[in-house]
Amino acid sequence: MEKASEFNSLAFLFYLEIMNIGIPKEIKNQEFRVGLSPAGVHALQKDGHQTWIETNAGLGSGFTDEMYLQEGANILPTATEVYAAADLIVKVKEPLAAEYDLIKKGQIIFTYFHFAASRELTEAMLRSKAICFAYESVELSDRSLPLLIPMSEVAGRMAVQVGSYYLGKPQGGKGKMLGGVPGVQPAHVLILGGGVVGTQAAKMAAGLGANVTIMDTNLSRLRYLDEILPANVHTQFATSHAIQSHLSQVDLLIGAVLLHGTKAPQLIKKEDLRKMELGTVLVDVAVDQGGCIETCKPTTHENPVYEIDGILHYCVANMPGAVPQTSTLALTQATLPYIQLLANLGWKEASTSNEALNKGLTIYEGKLFHPGLAASFNL
Ligand SMILES: NC(=O)c1ccc[n+]([C@@H]2O[C@H](COP(=O)([O-])OP(=O)(O)OC[C@H]3O[C@@H](n4cnc5c(N)ncnc54)[C@H](O)[C@@H]3O)[C@@H](O)[C@H]2O)c1
Repeated sequence: MEKASEFNSLAFLFYLEIMNIGIPKEIKNQEFRVGLSPAGVHALQKDGHQTWIETNAGLGSGFTDEMYLQEGANILPTATEVYAAADLIVKVKEPLAAEYDLIKKGQIIFTYFHFAASRELTEAMLRSKAICFAYESVELSDRSLPLLIPMSEVAGRMAVQVGSYYLGKPQGGKGKMLGGVPGVQPAHVLILGGGVVGTQAAKMAAGLGANVTIMDTNLSRLRYLDEILPANVHTQFATSHAIQSHLSQVDLLIGAVLLHGTKAPQLIKKEDLRKMELGTVLVDVAVDQGGCIETCKPTTHENPVYEIDGILHYCVANMPGAVPQTSTLALTQATLPYIQLLANLGWKEASTSNEALNKGLTIYEGKLFHPGLAASFNL
């Protein structure tokens, strides 16, 4: 809240002109999130801007056209018309090939791009001469990533929900309840990595009454977690020896480690599966960075689990996609202050006045502003 009011007063000082903000419907397979909620429309209309929403763009997240209309948005029948009307496009996923030609020179695009994963997308955005701000690159001075944190929060909490479900016998699990019952011991949950995902998972598992251990290699983080987490969560420094000591009793293991800019370290090897009881559940949230379990390979919401040596693996790479109502609200409350900055100040003033947003500026009128990306694509 403090940040938002800081942003708004700054925006008021530099108020420039009315901006047209477009929200197309996401077209990526199984993507139900939307770039802006009706509450976001309300805030932008209040700042004096116009919002243009593609019809049914919010339906997958529980927002009807009527809900947007009530806040003063305009509804357009096609993505082509939304892109044509907008100075600033706010999305969730990277533009797909069908969208490349809709993007205009000088148009601001604010979304998750993950450019490093696609040379084709990078070249298409360079050709379009649009101004691309990538959610995943917006970075605060403490090096945290404010537009990735909400999705880690969702995935961390979800890891316990899905883990608990797959522990059920009909799903192939051991047939154990996380919290036990009076007179029956609770399940053992081991969480590798005590960052955003790990902390949220620990809170959920502890809330259900499980016996939780959370491990990290960062001792000061463990001290912090020890202060804030309930008594049924134990912190432990992550060594191979410590991890091994848990394998014979663990019921649910959650992989939540991250080494910035590189692949996740493999903390659980294939031979470790034999040390676990049949029906143990592994949820490797770090699958998007290669996973911290050797036997992890990416799965989808349609087919989320597979079994190796009697151990269930859940390795869905886009976990927040399963809960779009929660995920859209979590994402849009984090993006809104930056959208307001871009709309109220214009992209140049917004990015020079806000260091975090400036870090998100990746492509500008045909030029790449990211040395790592330029080097990896030889551009
Ligand atoms: N599957 C999904 O849908 C989904 C969604 C959101 C995030 N993620 C992924 O989850 C992972 C974790 O994200 P996060 O936001 O919690 O990251 P984070 O940076 O907040 O936390 C990572 C933690 O891992 C710890 N760590 C590093 N090496 C370790 C080791 N060898 N042993 C134990 N701990 C170690 C770090 O000290 C840090 O505390 C990332 O790969 C992220 O991309 C996946």
